[in-house]
Amino acid sequence: SRTSHIRNFSIIAHVDHGKSTLADRILENLGAMGERDKRDQTLDTLELERERGITIKSTPIRLQYTRADGEKYTFNLIDTPGHVDFNYEVSRSLAACEGVLLLVDASQGVEAQTIVNAYLAIDSNLEIIPVVNKIDLPAADPEGAAQELEDVIGIPAEDAVFASGKTGVGVPNILEAIVERIPPPAGDPDAPLKALIFDSFYDAYQGVILFIRVLEGTLKPKDKIMMFSNGKSFDVDKVGTFSPALVVGDELIAGSVGWVAASIKDIHDAQVGDTITGKENPTTEPFPGFKPAQPVVFSGLYPTDTEDYRKLREALEKLKLNDAAFSFEPETSEALGFGFRCGFLGLLHAEIIQERLEREYDLDLIATAPAVVYRVTLTNGEVFETQNPAEFPTRDRIQLVEEPYIKLSIMLPEDYVGTVMQLLQERRGVMQTMNYIGKRVELLYEVPFAEILYDFHDRLKSISRGYASMDYEQIGYRDGDLRKVDIMVNNEVIDALAVIVHETKTYGLGRKIVDKMAEVIPRQMFPVPVQAVIGGKIIARATVKAYRKDVLAKCYGGDITRKKKLLEKQKKGRARMKQFGTVEVPQEAFLAVLSTE
Ligand code: GTP
Repeated sequence: SRTSHIRNFSIIAHVDHGKSTLADRILENLGAMGERDKRDQTLDTLELERERGITIKSTPIRLQYTRADGEKYTFNLIDTPGHVDFNYEVSRSLAACEGVLLLVDASQGVEAQTIVNAYLAIDSNLEIIPVVNKIDLPAADPEGAAQELEDVIGIPAEDAVFASGKTGVGVPNILEAIVERIPPPAGDPDAPLKALIFDSFYDAYQGVILFIRVLEGTLKPKDKIMMFSNGKSFDVDKVGTFSPALVVGDELIAGSVGWVAASIKDIHDAQVGDTITGKENPTTEPFPGFKPAQPVVFSGLYPTDTEDYRKLREALEKLKLNDAAFSFEPETSEALGFGFRCGFLGLLHAEIIQERLEREYDLDLIATAPAVVYRVTLTNGEVFETQNPAEFPTRDRIQLVEEPYIKLSIMLPEDYVGTVMQLLQERRGVMQTMNYIGKRVELLYEVPFAEILYDFHDRLKSISRGYASMDYEQIGYRDGDLRKVDIMVNNEVIDALAVIVHETKTYGLGRKIVDKMAEVIPRQMFPVPVQAVIGGKIIARATVKAYRKDVLAKCYGGDITRKKKLLEKQKKGRARMKQFGTVEVPQEAFLAVLSTE
């Protein structure tokens, strides 16, 4: 058939096991690096991605491989994001493939993401080629790593290909294994069109460019296409493939991977996971399991300089053009002024966006504490979802609160099991299973998502001396005894500091915030109370002491001009202060408190 010499595959691995390095080595072997600048990490295209060492966007590449017998093959190498925030995108990218290279670092063995990614591939019915990578390392134990793959995931150790992306050893064997073991794509070029969107980006001239895998049928310029999820239709301008630059072609037939431009102006009309079909002769069955990207972590973003509000809005609009998973809406805070409530796929996604705003758009921002989406049932039976402490109802109106849970998997050496289990207990985790794999252990826990938002990963890494790895997936909502803690300064509530927290943690967190706040608020003429409050009940309190008497004493007596001068000075300083009743709080104080979260 026309597709017998096509191989669509992806590389999956735990972070740092050498995915990008091996991909570059494969490119080099197939002569794809020749005419272009030989950069370090070709597949990671965004500046920011390369600096963080994390692949965010999936960038496919089309390669030509000529076998010893002269037969020519087309490889479509589809890159996948390497972080749990983007797991949905990983599974969509995998749906565009028939097989994967599952990389394992020969000195590290199987890690948490190795397992999760392997199961994503197994669930998509893909052929898995196990590759034990970095065998050039002195600490490499290739046989041990291959055996772990067999013990943990059930992939026969003898199937493993030993390689090094760094030295290139083993790479020819990988190329042969791709041809021999990965099946060519199936699919009828004459059937009604059915294509899966696995990535997209916005281009100012062409509109949204869709990355697609054609499952059935053929796609050509001037075709009328339709999005399965919303029925919107578009006229195809151009189609093509990747080299990795976008190359214009005549058609995309069933089995091929390519791109399509159809003057789509809004990225929300072309979401990852949706199916494209023909408007005239549509397919009956879309690719299953489409879900629009849903933000799960929310936080307020405010410019430190109120003058920058418009600039921030314009920057957010630009970022959103390229990122259907990111959301924002205006929000006003008494303490922080005008800003935006922003939604993200996870904390890493939030950090990436904030960093881009600060670096690419030169903005200085304050972010409020990240929050998850809570589901609240009111006493009157009404149910609503909220991620904003400001909207959280008082306890007398609440019948039930539910919070999102995750299934967390952790791989670690057995020596650290005790301390890690203690950490998980502090985070309200409930153990499901514990599997021994040689001298290492896989722990499976169910944990409230909110509990791993703050510093969980850092804590895990530090108590395991860097040896533990983790991955997680969302598993739905569970009851939670959650409270809103308000922070009051001089008896006034400071909206930006409110947090929703589990009942067992209210005192600890309340204490921490009031102490920090009392430390950073400058002294006033009188003592200022700082309180943590739940529904009117004070749970923690600290006091900002007044100026010492002698400072004020100088102002009394006869020297009226001196007193005036002092007042004048205070007035000037007031500009950058937020007024709470008779108390002024510098913006730096909020920054200090919010950044310790
Ligand atoms: P992400 O893009 O963050 O998912 O990481 P990755 O899996 O793509 O890993 P990357 O290719 O960036 O490699 C991680 C580190 O391992 C880098 O410091 C590489 O230089 C190193 N490395 C990669 N492959 C090899 C190898 O075969 N041998 C040795 N010795 N080091 C390697």
